[in-house]
Amino acid sequence: MGVDYFKTDYPALARDLASVRKRMKKTIAIKNPLIEAAIFDVLDAGGKMLRPAYLLLFSELVGLEEELKLNLAAAVEMLHTATLVHDDVIDKANIRRGVATISSRYGVDSAVYAGDYLFVCAVKLLAKYSESLSHLTDQLGSVERLLNGEIGQMNERFDLTQSITSYLENIEGKTAELFAVSCSVGPLVAGNKRLAQTAHDVGLAVGTAFQIMDDYLDYASSSESLGKPVLEDIKQGVYSAPAIYALEADARVAAAIRQGNVEAVYELVHATGALDKTKKLAASYTTKALKLIGKLPESEAQTALADITEKLLERVV
Ligand code: IPE
Ligand code: IPE
Ligand code: MG
Ligand code: MG
Repeated sequence: MGVDYFKTDYPALARDLASVRKRMKKTIAIKNPLIEAAIFDVLDAGGKMLRPAYLLLFSELVGLEEELKLNLAAAVEMLHTATLVHDDVIDKANIRRGVATISSRYGVDSAVYAGDYLFVCAVKLLAKYSESLSHLTDQLGSVERLLNGEIGQMNERFDLTQSITSYLENIEGKTAELFAVSCSVGPLVAGNKRLAQTAHDVGLAVGTAFQIMDDYLDYASSSESLGKPVLEDIKQGVYSAPAIYALEADARVAAAIRQGNVEAVYELVHATGALDKTKKLAASYTTKALKLIGKLPESEAQTALADITEKLLERVV
């Protein structure tokens, strides 16, 4: 699932991403064969590799050296994978990328260690290739904001009055920050501060649109096609954009949530037009990203960035 996201339209990018995946596996060398196998399972299961894709394309704009960009791309994808492994522990999810999660197959303890290990490997790679300590400090600041987004989401669980503004604040941390790092690290390492700032803003907008669509798909798709559970957020008391819009539109939504009637919430989300509103919200961030991408130097990478960003709004996986 997901592994060949770029194969048809961008074969060169897909080849680079395959080599990023190899590098990730090469970096993992754990004494405990069980934890190593657990990590390899989640890496082999694929994933869309979106963050490294943005990193590689922005790095192309500044002509970053091959070795450097592949290693930085491996670092951000490992960071992302670490957050997924821990997210699945917190959500008690059984399936990710179409295969059994580490916690369900190897146990929660192994999943916590596997996530920690991936996190450390990612930071080690970032430190090695980050050029200066101040860059690394910036990147770790983003990781801190990522965690604060997740903690913010946890703090607001079961709050039926949660606003779109606080939802957006949390997803900017938990998801958009890592896209911002992925986009800006190449230009930053190349010493192009101005481009790094634009890249950072592109990443924030792309990441926000991406998470809103992920939350949309939670109500509009199925576990079979996504390869991960659906309608989990609402059960865990996490009210994302579709639920927030439905709560605003119809008092029966709060009643259904209080009764734990997920089916009724699902029906109401569909009936109240909350999904359309959610998609429009995502589209507004995509438009913002596309405007910024339009200002980048004209190149193949710029065209690819625009195309990929636009298509993410229509993704089904
Ligand atoms: C899942 O990210 C977590 C979110 C931020 C929504 P992806 O959908 O990029 O996960 P993979 O890597 O393709 O599995
Ligand atoms: C993204 O949120 C999780 C992280 C940023 C770690 P979700 O909870 O929506 O991610 P999925 O849906 O489980 O992939
Ligand atoms: Mg989750
Ligand atoms: Mg989700």
